[in-house]
Amino acid sequence: MGQVLIYDHPLIQHKIAMLRDKNTSTKDFRELVSEIAMLMCYEVTRNLPLRDVDVETPIGIAHEKMLAGKNICFVPVLRAGLGMVDGVLSLVPSAKVGHIGLYRDPDTLEPVEYYCKLPVDVADRDVVVLDPMLATGGSASAAISFIKQRGAKNIKLMNLIAAPEGINRVVADHPDVDIYCAAVDKELNSHAYIVPGLGDAGDRLFGTK
Ligand code: PRP
Ligand code: URA
Repeated sequence: MGQVLIYDHPLIQHKIAMLRDKNTSTKDFRELVSEIAMLMCYEVTRNLPLRDVDVETPIGIAHEKMLAGKNICFVPVLRAGLGMVDGVLSLVPSAKVGHIGLYRDPDTLEPVEYYCKLPVDVADRDVVVLDPMLATGGSASAAISFIKQRGAKNIKLMNLIAAPEGINRVVADHPDVDIYCAAVDKELNSHAYIVPGLGDAGDRLFGTK
């Protein structure tokens, strides 16, 4: 059974408050998304497998541990997930990055796929799906299904702001997936936007509105 982890770290709460502010500029919004993603990544990577190594210091041999084998693949959901990539790569620079393009049809609110490119060895990696917003959960659930079709078994989902509806949807569709959220809001409005949320994450990241 997957777990749902809601962050209570003061730095993350502070930056989420700034992110929500409608007066935050595109530049600052972009920086905040990246910084919060980096802070969240610390916990997401807690259980990465390690191997024993002996390191020769100038004085002697230190028995240490380093990351074992193939590690992570990050998969941002286009577009808004792109804003989280730099932050997580600053912690795990050797990770591979796959991309899944999905948009929500404004009438049906169902996710429509337009792009999918994952590393060939994705089945051997721990996969972390990145998307700032988890609203109805349709996009995240579809992205996780694509990744599972390629053979990946160990999948986590990282969102900045989630609605209870989205968490419930992903837990129901993918009970094996751990969900990491920086904040969980009250509800969705009639257009399936998160309330109070932060508005349209893609538009705020890329300045398209
Ligand atoms: C946003 C967001 C998620 C999705 C969440 O993307 O980045 O992918 O909506 O909504 P859901 O949980 O109800 O599926 P959007 O469709 O606006 O596309 P964009 O990132 O290209 O702006
Ligand atoms: N997508 C967004 O960007 N914001 C929301 O509140 C819901 C979906």
